[in-house]
Amino acid sequence: MSSRATLRLTSDPAGLAEAGRLLREGRLVAFPTETVYGLGADATDGRAVAGIYEAKGRPSFNPLIAHVATVEEALALGRFDASAGLLARAFWPGPLTLVVPMAEGAGISDLTRAGLDTVGLRVPSHPVAQAILKAAGCPVAAPSANRSGHVSPTTAAHVLADLDGRIAAVVDGGPTEVGVESTIIACLDGPPVLLRPGGVPREAIEAVIGQPLASAGGEATIAPGMLASHYAPQAGIRLDATRVEPGEALLAFGPNPPPGAVAMLNLSPSGDLAEAAANLFGQLRVLDASGAARIAVMPIPAEGLGEAIRDRLARAAAPRG
Ligand code: TXA
Ligand code: MG
Repeated sequence: MSSRATLRLTSDPAGLAEAGRLLREGRLVAFPTETVYGLGADATDGRAVAGIYEAKGRPSFNPLIAHVATVEEALALGRFDASAGLLARAFWPGPLTLVVPMAEGAGISDLTRAGLDTVGLRVPSHPVAQAILKAAGCPVAAPSANRSGHVSPTTAAHVLADLDGRIAAVVDGGPTEVGVESTIIACLDGPPVLLRPGGVPREAIEAVIGQPLASAGGEATIAPGMLASHYAPQAGIRLDATRVEPGEALLAFGPNPPPGAVAMLNLSPSGDLAEAAANLFGQLRVLDASGAARIAVMPIPAEGLGEAIRDRLARAAAPRG
């Protein structure tokens, strides 16, 4: 952890080169991907990766996603079965993470994998992420760039609100486009399993593999404390609200929000799920800062990106661990 001020880098060639240099030196650099901002460290350097946990204040070691610039690099780091290969070709670069057995000699540190013999791999499409990964020249481990227990960051300002003074630099690439984290699919033995809904809708994945995705059991396999700790705002969250109760803020969706909220933001007045995903974490932050004791959230349809939005909201609403 650095006690010095965090460098604000712009996404010009000098800023991108500096970000790559810092990562090669084992320092921590936050950068935009198309989903959320990630907190990066050299994934082959266990000491650098340990810094991620320290900066985030993350109490336990969860496996981290290793990011690389090209599909070819990713394919060399893991053992891809037929489905994994299809998904890699269909959705990379993009908001998809594949968990596959690590390839022999891939060199992703134990701490990045939390000691597992599998590795989570992602090729992000964001041009700033692409440029930084190329400049770094190594796989970059990156969880979302927030303090443990806070909402994921979709702007550089969100990153600084949580991590200023704790990381070497943040590269400002503007607000992220997708707004929810990547979809995570495990391709181990047997059919592909959905570990986390995210930026690539389930329907698109099922169309490519030609079969329904198995579910990991979701909530059942994750401790409630963990569910809450990932996305918990200060305010309580009430889901599928069609009316506003006294003192509540409203996170609306669609053209006809009910009246009476002490503060109101609309994820998408036109009912567009991609717009709603992009606005989700930022609007949760703003409503949380309004001081309302509870945020009522209007119903979000469960199809397409709605599955990821509902998953994040359910985590935010889960009992606090
Ligand atoms: O969009 C995203 O995925 C963002 C950006 C920065 O890439 N990253 C992100 O990282 O959301 P994080 O650490 O917040 O979530 C990564 C998830 C964790 O829940 C972890 O358990 C899972 O990926 N994961 C990573 N490697 C894994 C592995 N080998 N086996 C099972 N799960 C794994
Ligand atoms: Mg996270």
